[in-house]
Amino acid sequence: MLGLVLLRGGCSALLCLWALFLPVDSLHAVNDPPQLLLVSFDGFRWDYVDRVPTPNFHSIMDEGVYVEKVENVYITKTFSNHYSLVTGLYSESHGIVGNEMYDPALNQSFSMETDSMYNSRWWEEAVPLWVTIQKAGGRSGAAMWPGSDVKIHGMYPSQYLPYNASLPFESRVEHIIEWFSAPKQEAVNFGVLYWEEPDESGHILGPQSPLMDGVIAGIDEKLGFLISELKKAGLYEKVNLIVTSDHGMAQLSPDKIIELDEYVSRDLYTWVDKSPVVGLIPNEGKLNEVYSLLADANPNMVAYKKEEIPERLHYQHNIRITPIILEAKEGWTIMQNRTGPFMLGNHGYDNALQSMQPVFVARGPAFRQNYVKPSMRSVDLYPLMCQILAISALPNNGSLSNVQDLLSPEMILPTATPPPPTPPTLSRYSYAPVVGSFLGVVMVLGFLVVYVVFVTLKQRPSLKHRRWEMSQPLLQEDLQL
Ligand SMILES: *[C@@H]1O[C@H](CO)[C@@H](O)[C@H](O)[C@H]1NC(C)=O
Ligand SMILES: *[C@@H]1O[C@H](CO)[C@@H](O)[C@H](O)[C@H]1NC(C)=O
Ligand SMILES: *[C@@H]1O[C@H](CO)[C@@H](O)[C@H](O)[C@H]1NC(C)=O
Ligand SMILES: *[C@@H]1O[C@H](CO)[C@@H](O)[C@H](O)[C@H]1NC(C)=O
Ligand SMILES: [Zn+2]
Repeated sequence: MLGLVLLRGGCSALLCLWALFLPVDSLHAVNDPPQLLLVSFDGFRWDYVDRVPTPNFHSIMDEGVYVEKVENVYITKTFSNHYSLVTGLYSESHGIVGNEMYDPALNQSFSMETDSMYNSRWWEEAVPLWVTIQKAGGRSGAAMWPGSDVKIHGMYPSQYLPYNASLPFESRVEHIIEWFSAPKQEAVNFGVLYWEEPDESGHILGPQSPLMDGVIAGIDEKLGFLISELKKAGLYEKVNLIVTSDHGMAQLSPDKIIELDEYVSRDLYTWVDKSPVVGLIPNEGKLNEVYSLLADANPNMVAYKKEEIPERLHYQHNIRITPIILEAKEGWTIMQNRTGPFMLGNHGYDNALQSMQPVFVARGPAFRQNYVKPSMRSVDLYPLMCQILAISALPNNGSLSNVQDLLSPEMILPTATPPPPTPPTLSRYSYAPVVGSFLGVVMVLGFLVVYVVFVTLKQRPSLKHRRWEMSQPLLQEDLQL
Protein backbone atom coordinates (compact mmCIF):
# COMPACT_ATOMS: atom_id res chain seq x y z
CA MET A 1 0.00 0.00 0.00
CA LEU A 2 2.82 2.31 0.86
CA GLY A 3 4.40 1.43 -2.42
CA LEU A 4 1.22 2.21 -4.22
CA VAL A 5 0.97 5.66 -2.76
CA LEU A 6 4.57 6.50 -3.45
CA LEU A 7 4.37 5.17 -6.94
CA ARG A 8 1.20 7.03 -7.82
CA GLY A 9 3.02 9.97 -7.00
CA GLY A 10 5.06 12.39 -7.98
CA CYS A 11 2.48 13.41 -5.29
CA SER A 12 3.59 16.07 -2.87
CA ALA A 13 4.63 15.09 0.63
CA LEU A 14 1.47 16.56 2.08
CA LEU A 15 -0.77 14.78 -0.33
CA CYS A 16 0.98 11.50 0.35
CA LEU A 17 0.56 12.04 4.04
CA TRP A 18 -3.12 12.67 3.57
CA ALA A 19 -3.47 9.54 1.44
CA LEU A 20 -1.84 7.48 4.17
CA PHE A 21 -4.58 8.39 6.59
CA LEU A 22 -7.29 7.03 4.39
CA PRO A 23 -8.66 3.70 5.58
CA VAL A 24 -7.61 0.79 3.41
CA ASP A 25 -11.04 0.24 1.92
CA SER A 26 -11.53 3.79 0.78
CA LEU A 27 -8.20 3.71 -1.01
CA HIS A 28 -9.73 1.03 -3.19
CA ALA A 29 -12.94 2.92 -3.58
CA VAL A 30 -11.07 5.92 -4.94
CA ASN A 31 -10.43 3.89 -8.06
CA ASP A 32 -13.45 3.00 -10.16
CA PRO A 33 -13.46 -0.58 -11.41
CA PRO A 34 -11.27 -0.79 -14.50
CA GLN A 35 -13.00 -0.71 -17.87
CA LEU A 36 -11.69 -2.14 -21.12
CA LEU A 37 -12.99 -2.05 -24.67
CA LEU A 38 -11.52 -4.47 -27.21
CA VAL A 39 -12.19 -3.59 -30.84
CA SER A 40 -11.54 -5.76 -33.88
CA PHE A 41 -11.60 -4.49 -37.44
CA ASP A 42 -11.64 -7.82 -39.25
CA GLY A 43 -8.70 -8.32 -41.63
CA PHE A 44 -6.84 -5.13 -40.71
CA ARG A 45 -3.32 -6.01 -41.79
CA TRP A 46 -0.45 -4.58 -39.75
CA ASP A 47 0.91 -2.34 -42.49
CA TYR A 48 -2.41 -0.68 -43.36
CA VAL A 49 -1.76 2.04 -40.79
CA ASP A 50 1.08 3.41 -42.91
CA ARG A 51 -0.48 2.90 -46.30
CA VAL A 52 -2.75 5.93 -46.24
CA PRO A 53 -3.08 8.68 -43.64
CA THR A 54 -4.78 7.14 -40.60
CA PRO A 55 -4.83 10.04 -38.15
CA ASN A 56 -7.06 8.28 -35.64
CA PHE A 57 -4.89 5.20 -35.40
CA HIS A 58 -1.91 7.50 -35.04
CA SER A 59 -3.50 9.53 -32.29
CA ILE A 60 -3.91 6.33 -30.27
CA MET A 61 -0.29 5.41 -30.97
CA ASP A 62 0.86 8.83 -29.75
CA GLU A 63 -1.24 8.70 -26.61
CA GLY A 64 -0.71 5.02 -25.97
CA VAL A 65 1.07 1.97 -27.34
CA TYR A 66 1.65 0.66 -30.83
CA VAL A 67 2.60 -2.95 -31.58
CA GLU A 68 3.59 -3.11 -35.22
CA LYS A 69 2.77 -6.77 -35.84
CA VAL A 70 0.74 -9.32 -33.97
CA GLU A 71 1.66 -12.96 -34.48
CA ASN A 72 -1.77 -14.52 -34.47
CA VAL A 73 -2.74 -18.19 -34.28
CA TYR A 74 -2.89 -20.87 -36.92
CA ILE A 75 -5.04 -21.19 -38.91
CA THR A 76 -5.26 -17.47 -39.56
CA LYS A 77 -9.03 -17.47 -39.95
CA THR A 78 -11.62 -15.24 -38.33
CA PHE A 79 -13.32 -17.49 -35.82
CA SER A 80 -10.17 -19.20 -34.59
CA ASN A 81 -8.42 -15.92 -33.99
CA HIS A 82 -11.27 -14.04 -32.38
CA TYR A 83 -11.62 -16.87 -29.90
CA SER A 84 -7.88 -16.83 -29.21
CA LEU A 85 -8.01 -13.11 -28.46
CA VAL A 86 -10.54 -13.66 -25.68
CA THR A 87 -9.13 -16.94 -24.31
CA GLY A 88 -5.36 -16.71 -24.79
CA LEU A 89 -5.42 -20.21 -26.27
CA TYR A 90 -4.16 -21.68 -29.53
CA SER A 91 -7.01 -23.00 -31.61
CA GLU A 92 -6.10 -26.63 -30.86
CA SER A 93 -6.80 -25.77 -27.21
CA HIS A 94 -9.92 -23.61 -27.53
CA GLY A 95 -11.52 -25.91 -30.08
CA ILE A 96 -12.56 -23.42 -32.76
CA VAL A 97 -10.03 -24.81 -35.21
CA GLY A 98 -11.52 -23.13 -38.28
CA ASN A 99 -14.49 -21.31 -39.76
CA GLU A 100 -15.69 -24.70 -40.97
CA MET A 101 -15.24 -27.83 -38.86
CA TYR A 102 -16.40 -31.38 -38.36
CA ASP A 103 -16.40 -33.01 -34.95
CA PRO A 104 -16.36 -36.82 -35.16
CA ALA A 105 -17.46 -37.21 -31.53
CA LEU A 106 -20.46 -34.94 -32.00
CA ASN A 107 -20.94 -36.20 -35.56
CA GLN A 108 -21.73 -32.61 -36.43
CA SER A 109 -20.42 -29.91 -38.71
CA PHE A 110 -19.79 -26.30 -37.81
CA SER A 111 -19.96 -23.46 -40.24
CA MET A 112 -19.72 -19.78 -39.43
CA GLU A 113 -22.33 -19.32 -42.10
CA THR A 114 -25.03 -21.53 -40.56
CA ASP A 115 -26.89 -21.84 -37.28
CA SER A 116 -24.64 -24.78 -36.41
CA MET A 117 -22.35 -22.24 -34.75
CA TYR A 118 -24.95 -21.60 -32.06
CA ASN A 119 -24.46 -25.07 -30.60
CA SER A 120 -22.67 -24.34 -27.31
CA ARG A 121 -20.66 -27.55 -27.47
CA TRP A 122 -18.36 -26.12 -30.11
CA TRP A 123 -17.26 -23.32 -27.82
CA GLU A 124 -17.02 -24.99 -24.46
CA GLU A 125 -13.47 -26.32 -24.67
CA ALA A 126 -12.58 -22.82 -23.48
CA VAL A 127 -14.06 -20.03 -21.39
CA PRO A 128 -14.10 -16.60 -23.02
CA LEU A 129 -13.09 -13.61 -20.94
CA TRP A 130 -16.63 -12.24 -20.76
CA VAL A 131 -17.82 -15.37 -18.99
CA THR A 132 -14.92 -15.31 -16.54
CA ILE A 133 -15.60 -11.67 -15.71
CA GLN A 134 -19.25 -12.34 -15.07
CA LYS A 135 -18.45 -15.32 -12.87
CA ALA A 136 -16.22 -12.99 -10.86
CA GLY A 137 -19.13 -10.60 -10.40
CA GLY A 138 -18.36 -8.18 -13.23
CA ARG A 139 -20.28 -7.29 -16.36
CA SER A 140 -19.54 -7.45 -20.04
CA GLY A 141 -21.03 -6.19 -23.29
CA ALA A 142 -20.56 -7.59 -26.79
CA ALA A 143 -21.37 -6.05 -30.14
CA MET A 144 -21.13 -8.81 -32.74
CA TRP A 145 -17.84 -10.37 -31.66
CA PRO A 146 -17.72 -13.90 -33.10
CA GLY A 147 -19.18 -16.29 -30.52
CA SER A 148 -20.55 -13.55 -28.29
CA ASP A 149 -24.15 -14.38 -29.10
CA VAL A 150 -23.67 -18.04 -28.27
CA LYS A 151 -24.48 -19.39 -24.83
CA ILE A 152 -21.15 -20.61 -23.49
CA HIS A 153 -20.91 -22.43 -20.17
CA GLY A 154 -24.44 -21.35 -19.48
CA MET A 155 -23.90 -17.65 -20.11
CA TYR A 156 -24.29 -14.93 -22.64
CA PRO A 157 -22.49 -11.61 -22.17
CA SER A 158 -24.43 -9.39 -19.73
CA GLN A 159 -25.27 -7.25 -22.75
CA TYR A 160 -24.98 -8.45 -26.33
CA LEU A 161 -26.39 -8.12 -29.80
CA PRO A 162 -27.47 -11.10 -31.89
CA TYR A 163 -25.28 -11.19 -34.97
CA ASN A 164 -26.57 -9.01 -37.77
CA ALA A 165 -24.11 -8.10 -40.48
CA SER A 166 -26.34 -5.24 -41.60
CA LEU A 167 -26.22 -3.39 -38.32
CA PRO A 168 -24.05 -0.32 -39.01
CA PHE A 169 -20.85 0.29 -37.11
CA GLU A 170 -22.33 3.46 -35.65
CA SER A 171 -25.24 1.54 -34.10
CA ARG A 172 -22.86 -0.98 -32.58
CA VAL A 173 -20.88 1.88 -31.07
CA GLU A 174 -24.06 3.42 -29.69
CA HIS A 175 -24.77 0.23 -27.76
CA ILE A 176 -21.20 -0.01 -26.51
CA ILE A 177 -21.31 3.58 -25.24
CA GLU A 178 -24.61 2.96 -23.52
CA TRP A 179 -23.30 -0.16 -21.77
CA PHE A 180 -20.11 1.50 -20.59
CA SER A 181 -21.81 4.61 -19.32
CA ALA A 182 -24.65 2.89 -17.46
CA PRO A 183 -24.97 3.61 -13.71
CA LYS A 184 -22.26 2.01 -11.61
CA GLN A 185 -23.99 -1.28 -10.81
CA GLU A 186 -24.90 -1.87 -14.44
CA ALA A 187 -21.90 -0.50 -16.31
CA VAL A 188 -19.86 -3.11 -18.14
CA ASN A 189 -16.22 -3.69 -17.23
CA PHE A 190 -15.33 -5.37 -20.49
CA GLY A 191 -16.69 -4.68 -23.96
CA VAL A 192 -15.98 -6.25 -27.33
CA LEU A 193 -16.79 -4.59 -30.62
CA TYR A 194 -16.48 -6.22 -34.03
CA TRP A 195 -16.65 -4.79 -37.53
CA GLU A 196 -16.53 -6.86 -40.76
CA GLU A 197 -14.30 -4.48 -42.69
CA PRO A 198 -11.68 -4.22 -44.16
CA ASP A 199 -11.87 -8.03 -44.47
CA GLU A 200 -14.80 -8.12 -46.87
CA SER A 201 -13.28 -5.62 -49.25
CA GLY A 202 -9.88 -7.26 -48.91
CA HIS A 203 -11.31 -10.57 -50.13
CA ILE A 204 -13.11 -9.01 -53.06
CA LEU A 205 -10.55 -6.46 -54.23
CA GLY A 206 -7.31 -8.07 -53.07
CA PRO A 207 -5.08 -6.12 -50.68
CA GLN A 208 -2.96 -4.73 -53.52
CA SER A 209 -5.90 -3.00 -55.16
CA PRO A 210 -5.63 0.79 -55.04
CA LEU A 211 -9.30 0.74 -54.06
CA MET A 212 -8.22 -0.62 -50.69
CA ASP A 213 -6.78 2.80 -49.86
CA GLY A 214 -10.26 4.25 -49.54
CA VAL A 215 -11.43 1.25 -47.54
CA ILE A 216 -8.59 1.68 -45.05
CA ALA A 217 -9.21 5.42 -44.78
CA GLY A 218 -12.85 4.54 -44.09
CA ILE A 219 -11.84 2.29 -41.20
CA ASP A 220 -9.80 5.12 -39.73
CA GLU A 221 -12.89 7.30 -39.90
CA LYS A 222 -14.89 4.62 -38.09
CA LEU A 223 -12.24 4.62 -35.39
CA GLY A 224 -12.51 8.42 -35.28
CA PHE A 225 -16.25 8.08 -34.76
CA LEU A 226 -15.71 5.67 -31.87
CA ILE A 227 -13.17 8.02 -30.27
CA SER A 228 -15.45 11.02 -30.55
CA GLU A 229 -18.40 9.11 -29.08
CA LEU A 230 -16.26 7.93 -26.17
CA LYS A 231 -15.19 11.53 -25.60
CA LYS A 232 -18.74 12.83 -25.77
CA ALA A 233 -19.81 10.29 -23.17
CA GLY A 234 -16.91 11.25 -20.89
CA LEU A 235 -15.44 7.77 -21.23
CA TYR A 236 -12.30 8.43 -23.21
CA GLU A 237 -9.96 9.03 -20.28
CA LYS A 238 -11.49 6.25 -18.23
CA VAL A 239 -11.92 3.32 -20.58
CA ASN A 240 -8.89 1.41 -21.76
CA LEU A 241 -9.19 1.04 -25.52
CA ILE A 242 -7.52 -1.72 -27.54
CA VAL A 243 -7.85 -1.78 -31.32
CA THR A 244 -6.59 -4.84 -33.15
CA SER A 245 -7.71 -7.50 -35.58
CA ASP A 246 -7.82 -11.23 -36.21
CA HIS A 247 -5.54 -11.50 -39.23
CA GLY A 248 -4.15 -9.77 -42.30
CA MET A 249 -4.76 -10.47 -45.98
CA ALA A 250 -2.70 -11.85 -48.89
CA GLN A 251 -3.05 -11.05 -52.57
CA LEU A 252 -4.23 -13.98 -54.70
CA SER A 253 -4.19 -14.48 -58.43
CA PRO A 254 -6.22 -16.60 -60.85
CA ASP A 255 -2.85 -17.90 -62.09
CA LYS A 256 -2.20 -19.44 -58.71
CA ILE A 257 -4.86 -22.09 -58.38
CA ILE A 258 -4.23 -25.67 -57.31
CA GLU A 259 -6.92 -28.06 -58.57
CA LEU A 260 -7.21 -31.08 -56.33
CA ASP A 261 -9.22 -33.02 -58.88
CA GLU A 262 -6.02 -33.32 -60.90
CA TYR A 263 -4.45 -35.39 -58.14
CA VAL A 264 -7.09 -37.24 -56.17
CA SER A 265 -10.63 -38.43 -56.78
CA ARG A 266 -13.35 -36.65 -54.82
CA ASP A 267 -14.76 -40.06 -54.00
CA LEU A 268 -11.88 -40.73 -51.65
CA TYR A 269 -12.37 -37.95 -49.12
CA THR A 270 -14.69 -35.41 -47.50
CA TRP A 271 -13.70 -31.77 -47.85
CA VAL A 272 -14.14 -29.93 -44.53
CA ASP A 273 -12.39 -26.57 -44.39
CA LYS A 274 -11.64 -24.25 -47.28
CA SER A 275 -8.51 -22.80 -48.85
CA PRO A 276 -5.85 -21.86 -48.05
CA VAL A 277 -5.66 -24.55 -45.32
CA VAL A 278 -7.91 -27.32 -46.50
CA GLY A 279 -9.06 -29.99 -44.07
CA LEU A 280 -9.68 -33.40 -45.62
CA ILE A 281 -11.17 -36.52 -44.06
CA PRO A 282 -10.14 -39.52 -46.16
CA ASN A 283 -12.68 -42.28 -46.42
CA GLU A 284 -12.33 -45.23 -44.09
CA GLY A 285 -9.07 -47.02 -44.83
CA LYS A 286 -7.95 -44.47 -47.44
CA LEU A 287 -5.69 -42.25 -45.34
CA ASN A 288 -2.39 -43.44 -46.78
CA GLU A 289 -3.68 -43.55 -50.33
CA VAL A 290 -5.03 -39.99 -50.23
CA TYR A 291 -1.93 -38.73 -48.46
CA SER A 292 0.48 -40.28 -50.95
CA LEU A 293 -1.49 -38.89 -53.88
CA LEU A 294 -1.20 -35.38 -52.43
CA ALA A 295 2.15 -35.40 -50.64
CA ASP A 296 4.26 -34.34 -53.63
CA ALA A 297 1.46 -33.34 -55.93
CA ASN A 298 2.15 -29.64 -56.25
CA PRO A 299 5.15 -27.51 -55.21
CA ASN A 300 2.85 -24.75 -53.99
CA MET A 301 0.98 -26.94 -51.55
CA VAL A 302 2.12 -28.87 -48.51
CA ALA A 303 0.20 -31.92 -47.30
CA TYR A 304 0.45 -32.91 -43.66
CA LYS A 305 -0.84 -35.91 -41.87
CA LYS A 306 -2.26 -34.59 -38.64
CA GLU A 307 0.58 -36.09 -36.56
CA GLU A 308 3.15 -34.35 -38.77
CA ILE A 309 1.82 -30.82 -38.49
CA PRO A 310 4.79 -28.77 -37.26
CA GLU A 311 4.82 -28.17 -33.52
CA ARG A 312 5.27 -24.42 -33.90
CA LEU A 313 1.80 -24.14 -35.44
CA HIS A 314 0.16 -25.57 -32.29
CA TYR A 315 -2.43 -27.13 -34.53
CA GLN A 316 -2.64 -30.82 -33.89
CA HIS A 317 -4.15 -31.85 -30.58
CA ASN A 318 -7.82 -31.58 -31.29
CA ILE A 319 -10.31 -34.11 -32.59
CA ARG A 320 -11.69 -31.43 -34.92
CA ILE A 321 -8.43 -31.12 -36.84
CA THR A 322 -8.80 -33.44 -39.81
CA PRO A 323 -6.48 -36.42 -40.50
CA ILE A 324 -4.95 -34.54 -43.46
CA ILE A 325 -4.52 -30.82 -43.97
CA LEU A 326 -3.30 -29.13 -47.13
CA GLU A 327 -1.63 -25.77 -46.81
CA ALA A 328 -1.24 -23.52 -49.81
CA LYS A 329 1.83 -21.33 -50.16
CA GLU A 330 1.19 -17.61 -49.74
CA GLY A 331 -0.97 -16.28 -52.56
CA TRP A 332 -2.10 -19.71 -53.78
CA THR A 333 -5.65 -21.06 -53.72
CA ILE A 334 -6.68 -24.70 -53.36
CA MET A 335 -9.89 -25.68 -55.14
CA GLN A 336 -11.32 -28.93 -56.44
CA ASN A 337 -11.61 -27.46 -59.90
CA ARG A 338 -11.76 -23.98 -61.35
CA THR A 339 -15.50 -23.59 -61.09
CA GLY A 340 -16.80 -21.92 -58.01
CA PRO A 341 -16.14 -18.63 -56.28
CA PHE A 342 -12.65 -17.22 -56.46
CA MET A 343 -11.39 -14.37 -54.30
CA LEU A 344 -8.57 -11.91 -54.93
CA GLY A 345 -7.62 -11.76 -51.27
CA ASN A 346 -7.51 -14.40 -48.57
CA HIS A 347 -6.06 -15.36 -45.20
CA GLY A 348 -5.68 -18.57 -43.28
CA TYR A 349 -2.04 -19.16 -44.29
CA ASP A 350 0.91 -19.78 -41.97
CA ASN A 351 0.78 -17.33 -39.07
CA ALA A 352 4.52 -16.67 -39.45
CA LEU A 353 3.82 -14.82 -42.72
CA GLN A 354 3.82 -11.07 -42.22
CA SER A 355 0.87 -10.71 -44.56
CA MET A 356 -1.24 -12.67 -42.09
CA GLN A 357 -0.47 -10.45 -39.13
CA PRO A 358 -2.67 -7.66 -37.80
CA VAL A 359 -1.84 -4.42 -36.01
CA PHE A 360 -2.37 -3.47 -32.37
CA VAL A 361 -2.84 -0.04 -30.81
CA ALA A 362 -4.08 0.77 -27.33
CA ARG A 363 -4.46 3.67 -24.94
CA GLY A 364 -5.99 4.48 -21.59
CA PRO A 365 -5.07 4.67 -17.92
CA ALA A 366 -3.55 1.18 -17.94
CA PHE A 367 -1.21 1.79 -20.86
CA ARG A 368 2.10 3.50 -21.35
CA GLN A 369 2.24 6.50 -23.60
CA ASN A 370 3.92 6.91 -26.94
CA TYR A 371 5.50 3.47 -26.80
CA VAL A 372 6.30 1.27 -29.79
CA LYS A 373 6.91 -2.48 -29.69
CA PRO A 374 7.87 -4.39 -32.83
CA SER A 375 5.72 -7.46 -32.23
CA MET A 376 3.65 -9.52 -29.83
CA ARG A 377 1.75 -12.80 -29.90
CA SER A 378 -2.02 -12.58 -29.90
CA VAL A 379 -2.27 -15.20 -27.13
CA ASP A 380 -0.47 -12.77 -24.82
CA LEU A 381 -3.36 -10.32 -25.04
CA TYR A 382 -5.56 -12.41 -22.75
CA PRO A 383 -3.28 -12.28 -19.67
CA LEU A 384 -2.72 -8.58 -20.40
CA MET A 385 -6.45 -7.92 -20.37
CA CYS A 386 -6.89 -9.95 -17.18
CA GLN A 387 -4.21 -7.83 -15.52
CA ILE A 388 -5.94 -4.63 -16.61
CA LEU A 389 -9.30 -5.89 -15.39
CA ALA A 390 -7.76 -7.24 -12.16
CA ILE A 391 -9.18 -10.72 -12.58
CA SER A 392 -7.43 -14.08 -12.45
CA ALA A 393 -6.53 -15.51 -15.82
CA LEU A 394 -7.56 -19.08 -16.57
CA PRO A 395 -4.82 -21.41 -17.86
CA ASN A 396 -3.75 -20.09 -21.26
CA ASN A 397 -0.94 -20.07 -23.80
CA GLY A 398 0.03 -16.47 -23.28
CA SER A 399 2.36 -14.81 -20.86
CA LEU A 400 1.97 -11.45 -19.21
CA SER A 401 5.72 -11.03 -18.94
CA ASN A 402 5.94 -10.86 -22.76
CA VAL A 403 3.70 -7.81 -22.93
CA GLN A 404 3.80 -6.11 -19.55
CA ASP A 405 6.05 -3.43 -21.03
CA LEU A 406 2.88 -2.11 -22.69
CA LEU A 407 1.41 -1.26 -19.31
CA SER A 408 1.91 1.87 -17.30
CA PRO A 409 4.21 1.15 -14.33
CA GLU A 410 1.32 1.38 -11.85
CA MET A 411 -0.41 -1.52 -13.54
CA ILE A 412 2.58 -3.75 -12.99
CA LEU A 413 2.37 -3.44 -9.22
CA PRO A 414 1.45 -6.65 -7.48
CA THR A 415 -1.50 -4.79 -5.95
CA ALA A 416 -3.07 -4.73 -9.37
CA THR A 417 -3.58 -8.49 -9.22
CA PRO A 418 -6.98 -9.56 -8.00
CA PRO A 419 -7.91 -10.12 -4.40
CA PRO A 420 -9.03 -13.73 -3.84
CA PRO A 421 -12.59 -14.07 -5.10
CA THR A 422 -14.10 -14.76 -1.68
CA PRO A 423 -17.30 -12.81 -1.07
CA PRO A 424 -17.01 -10.08 1.54
CA THR A 425 -17.94 -11.33 5.00
CA LEU A 426 -19.20 -9.47 8.01
CA SER A 427 -16.02 -10.05 9.92
CA ARG A 428 -13.98 -8.46 7.20
CA TYR A 429 -16.05 -5.33 7.56
CA SER A 430 -15.99 -5.28 11.34
CA TYR A 431 -12.21 -5.62 11.45
CA ALA A 432 -11.67 -3.11 8.71
CA PRO A 433 -11.46 -0.01 10.93
CA VAL A 434 -9.02 -1.74 13.26
CA VAL A 435 -6.89 -3.06 10.45
CA GLY A 436 -7.16 0.28 8.71
CA SER A 437 -6.00 2.25 11.71
CA PHE A 438 -3.15 -0.16 12.34
CA LEU A 439 -2.01 0.02 8.76
CA GLY A 440 -2.42 3.77 8.90
CA VAL A 441 -0.02 4.03 11.79
CA VAL A 442 2.45 1.66 10.15
CA MET A 443 2.21 3.63 6.96
CA VAL A 444 2.78 6.96 8.62
CA LEU A 445 5.89 5.60 10.30
CA GLY A 446 6.97 4.03 7.04
CA PHE A 447 6.30 7.23 5.25
CA LEU A 448 8.36 9.30 7.62
CA VAL A 449 11.27 6.92 7.24
CA VAL A 450 11.01 6.94 3.48
CA TYR A 451 10.55 10.69 3.43
CA VAL A 452 13.72 11.24 5.41
CA VAL A 453 15.60 8.83 3.19
CA PHE A 454 14.14 10.48 0.14
CA VAL A 455 15.13 13.96 1.22
CA THR A 456 18.63 13.02 2.31
CA LEU A 457 19.45 10.84 -0.67
CA LYS A 458 18.03 12.98 -3.44
CA GLN A 459 20.83 11.96 -5.74
CA ARG A 460 19.73 8.33 -5.84
CA PRO A 461 17.58 7.03 -8.71
CA SER A 462 13.91 7.83 -8.23
CA LEU A 463 11.74 5.79 -5.92
CA LYS A 464 9.40 5.19 -8.78
CA HIS A 465 12.07 3.44 -10.73
CA ARG A 466 13.27 1.36 -7.84
CA ARG A 467 9.79 0.33 -6.93
CA TRP A 468 9.23 -0.89 -10.43
CA GLU A 469 12.25 -3.16 -10.23
CA MET A 470 11.22 -4.43 -6.84
CA SER A 471 7.89 -5.49 -8.20
CA GLN A 472 9.45 -7.82 -10.72
CA PRO A 473 10.03 -10.96 -8.62
CA LEU A 474 6.54 -10.77 -7.16
CA LEU A 475 5.08 -10.49 -10.55
CA GLN A 476 7.02 -13.49 -11.77
CA GLU A 477 5.48 -15.51 -8.99
CA ASP A 478 2.04 -14.53 -10.15
CA LEU A 479 2.83 -15.73 -13.60
CA GLN A 480 3.51 -19.25 -12.43
CA LEU A 481 -0.13 -19.65 -11.44
C1 LIG B 1 -23.81 -38.94 -38.36
O1 LIG B 1 -24.93 -38.16 -38.69
C2 LIG B 1 -25.51 -38.50 -39.94
C3 LIG B 1 -26.66 -37.55 -40.18
O2 LIG B 1 -26.23 -36.22 -40.08
C4 LIG B 1 -26.00 -39.94 -39.92
O3 LIG B 1 -26.51 -40.29 -41.20
C5 LIG B 1 -24.84 -40.86 -39.55
O4 LIG B 1 -25.31 -42.18 -39.41
C6 LIG B 1 -24.19 -40.41 -38.26
N1 LIG B 1 -23.01 -41.21 -38.03
C7 LIG B 1 -22.76 -41.79 -36.86
C8 LIG B 1 -21.50 -42.56 -36.76
O5 LIG B 1 -23.52 -41.67 -35.92
C1 LIG C 1 -30.38 -6.08 -38.90
O1 LIG C 1 -30.06 -4.70 -38.89
C2 LIG C 1 -30.74 -3.96 -39.91
C3 LIG C 1 -30.18 -2.56 -39.85
O2 LIG C 1 -30.36 -1.97 -38.61
C4 LIG C 1 -32.24 -4.02 -39.63
O3 LIG C 1 -32.94 -3.31 -40.63
C5 LIG C 1 -32.69 -5.46 -39.63
O4 LIG C 1 -34.05 -5.53 -39.25
C6 LIG C 1 -31.87 -6.27 -38.64
N1 LIG C 1 -32.19 -7.67 -38.79
C7 LIG C 1 -32.61 -8.39 -37.76
C8 LIG C 1 -32.88 -9.83 -38.05
O5 LIG C 1 -32.72 -7.93 -36.65
C1 LIG D 1 -16.12 -28.66 -61.36
O1 LIG D 1 -16.83 -29.06 -60.22
C2 LIG D 1 -18.23 -28.83 -60.28
C3 LIG D 1 -18.82 -29.26 -58.97
O2 LIG D 1 -18.24 -28.58 -57.94
C4 LIG D 1 -18.83 -29.59 -61.44
O3 LIG D 1 -20.21 -29.29 -61.52
C5 LIG D 1 -18.14 -29.19 -62.71
O4 LIG D 1 -18.61 -29.99 -63.77
C6 LIG D 1 -16.65 -29.36 -62.59
N1 LIG D 1 -16.00 -28.82 -63.77
C7 LIG D 1 -15.13 -29.52 -64.49
C8 LIG D 1 -14.55 -28.82 -65.67
O5 LIG D 1 -14.81 -30.64 -64.18
C1 LIG E 1 -2.00 -24.12 -24.03
O1 LIG E 1 -2.68 -23.95 -22.82
C2 LIG E 1 -3.50 -25.04 -22.46
C3 LIG E 1 -4.24 -24.64 -21.20
O2 LIG E 1 -3.33 -24.40 -20.19
C4 LIG E 1 -2.65 -26.28 -22.29
O3 LIG E 1 -3.48 -27.38 -22.01
C5 LIG E 1 -1.84 -26.53 -23.56
O4 LIG E 1 -0.97 -27.62 -23.37
C6 LIG E 1 -1.06 -25.30 -23.92
N1 LIG E 1 -0.38 -25.51 -25.19
C7 LIG E 1 0.92 -25.40 -25.31
C8 LIG E 1 1.50 -25.64 -26.66
O5 LIG E 1 1.65 -25.12 -24.38
ZN1 LIG F 1 -11.95 -13.08 -44.14
